[in-house]
Order: sequence, then C-alpha cells, then structure tokens
Amino acid sequence: MLKAQYPLEKFRNIPTPFYYYDLDVLRNTLKEINEQTTGYNFEVHYALKANVNPEVLNIIREAGLGADCVSGGEVQAAVNAGIPSSKIVFAGVGKADWEINLALENDIFCFNAESIPELEVINELATAKNKTASVALRINPNVDAHTHNYITTGLNENKFGINMEDIDKVISVLPDLRNIRMIGIHFHIGSQITDMTAYHNLCVRISEIEDIFASKNIFLQHINVGGGLGINYEHPNHFPVPEFETYFRTFKEHFKLQPGQTLHFELGRSVVAQCGSLISKVLYVKEGSTKNFAILDAGFTDLIRPALYQAYHRIENLSSDLPVEKYDVVGPICESSDVFDKDCYLNKTRRGDIIAIRSAGAYGEIMASQYNLRALPKAYTSDNI
Ligand code: LLP
Repeated sequence: MLKAQYPLEKFRNIPTPFYYYDLDVLRNTLKEINEQTTGYNFEVHYALKANVNPEVLNIIREAGLGADCVSGGEVQAAVNAGIPSSKIVFAGVGKADWEINLALENDIFCFNAESIPELEVINELATAKNKTASVALRINPNVDAHTHNYITTGLNENKFGINMEDIDKVISVLPDLRNIRMIGIHFHIGSQITDMTAYHNLCVRISEIEDIFASKNIFLQHINVGGGLGINYEHPNHFPVPEFETYFRTFKEHFKLQPGQTLHFELGRSVVAQCGSLISKVLYVKEGSTKNFAILDAGFTDLIRPALYQAYHRIENLSSDLPVEKYDVVGPICESSDVFDKDCYLNKTRRGDIIAIRSAGAYGEIMASQYNLRALPKAYTSDNI
C-alpha cells in the first residue's frame, strides 16, 4: 500500500501552517472505491463537506463520483467542479429558499428532504419554476452508530430526518405535492463508523421501511444509505486506504437490491482523510514543571477536530530522527483547549522542526476559522508544490 510521502525540503521553504494533500493516496483510495463498486448498482456521491480543495475535487470528479451537498455553496462548488448535475444530491435539515432554487435551476438529481414543511416549500418553488423536483425522504431509522455523540445522527433524539412513526403521514401528503417526484429514501446514521454491525442493522431497518412503502404500492427506486465509514487515525501509514472492501461487502451481503433499484452512498471522510496532513513548524519547546510542550504555529483555527471532538490525530516530527521524547503538542491560541495531543511521543523536537498532523484531509481545512484574526491555512498538493 502506498503511504503519504513528504517533500521535506520543499516544506522548509513554504510559510507554515498549511495543508498538504498527497494526490497519489487520493487516487489509490478512489481506485479502491471503484473496484469495490463496479458491477453492482452502486453509486457513490462524495460528501463535499469533508473537503472542497479544487484539485482534490477535480480528481474525485475524474474518478466518476457524484456529489453530496448540504448547502447552496456546495451545490455551486460541485457544479463548478464539473460534476454532472445528474449526480448531485442535496441534503440538509434547513435548506433556504435560495438554495432550493439554485438546486432546481441546476436540475440536480435529488433533494434529500427531511420534513413535511420542507417538502411543501420545495414543491412551491418547483411549481413557480414549472419544474418537477426529485426527492428522497430522509428517514431517521433510530439505529445507533456507536460513534461520538456529536457525529451520531440516526437516533430519534437527533434533529435529522423524518421519524419512523411519521412515514405514513408523509406518504399521505405526497399526492398533493404535484411538482415533487418521490424517487426513494435516504439515511445517514453518523460518521467515523468502524463497527460494521451498525450498517448491518441499517440494512435490516431499510428492508422494514421498504415493506411499509410496498404495502402502499410504492416502489423505491433509489435507496441512499448516507456516509460514515471511519478511517484509522492511529495508523495512517499502515492503513492509508480505508476498509472499503468490508464496508461495501456489508451492503452486498445484507441488502437485497430489487431489480431496477440503485443503492447510493455519500462518503466523505473515507475518501479524503488519509491524503491530507496539516504541516506546521515548532515555534518553541517549553519545559514545564511536569511536562514539556511543543508549541506549534498551527492551532485549532487550522484543525479544530481535537478541540471540538477530542479527536485523535497522529503527529510526526518530519525533520528529526533523534530518540523519542514525550510532549504536549499545543497551538498558539489563547484557549486551553488548543491542544493537538497530550503525552505524545515525538522524535526529540526543537524550534524550527517540521511537524505533520496526519489524517487531516477530511473536516480539516474546511472547518478552519480566523479566530484571533489568524489567516486561513493555505493548501498545496503533491502535484503542485
Ligand atoms: N451524508 C450526510 C447526510 C452527512 O450528514 C454526512 C456527514 C455525510 C454524508 C458524510 O459522512 P462521512 O462519510 O464523512 O462520515 N465534522 C465531523 C464530521 C461531521 C459529519 C457530518 N455529516 C468530524 O470532523 O468528524
């Protein structure tokens, strides 16, 4: 397996912090996705929310993936990247009118709709444009994803989707919504899921839901199971490409596609996480009374996942091969949560050393902020550095 390679000498001449994307890792990842899905009625939509770097998006488009968008901005980014509108899905619990209009004007493949009031608005806006909007109903299947609370989405207590007990009500209003064509159902149970039983349970639940529709003579042409496949944050060098074989096999084995049916996926993290690293320089090594701190020029404004979700990212000192020592690796921001890792073993670290924070291609650059009036991080790729 190909792991990320770093052009260290080039890194020394570029102002830090910045994101670095290894496009060979990305290409290998996409190749594996295509190998695992070819020959099945499977369609993968890349979840743009994970990363919209133009070069990354371009390679994803070249690989033939569609787009899963959650805002007008993302729909526009997908269109600008040349992803065919026939492969664009648009989800989100609070779609604004202008966003719905933009999606209608671009004739996207499908809206994933989350409530009756939203269906009514899509219908009204489609009517005004004399168009018919294709819609999949996002159903909250009440399946536990066994992941971090903040990224669990498929339980009754979450704000997402139509609850199981409301399905009948939704079906009953559909005939009145004349400019809506209901083409299927949609789910998303959470993110960074590594236990495939969650997906097995989802398959079982989807069959039950299909039965509800079948009892009303409704055939669901499109089943969208969302995204969520996790990656290995501990060992990015050993697992640069996620477990797509196991993931897709779960659906091949446990979901019976009917003739004419297509299964859709919305993968974000698993597509782009391992190809990206946040590259930073060590500003100071400070000896505290009980521990040593490696103070970086990157902070949670550049990568918020550790501060926001207590997420682990592997950290490597690219410019030292001295014996390892223990550090708290922290950023420069005036908040105690600005910590990338505690008690982290790094090769002995000195001012000016170059640090890679790994597996940061998903939900890294895109979640950056300008807090403390810091500049947004720039990005380079292995093709253009
Ligand atoms: N589809 C829907 C409807 C979603 O809400 C999401 C992610 C995805 C697909 C893609 O999920 P993925 O394959 O990337 O797991 N910022 C958090 C992750 C939030 C995920 C939100 N929804 C993080 O940094 O871990």
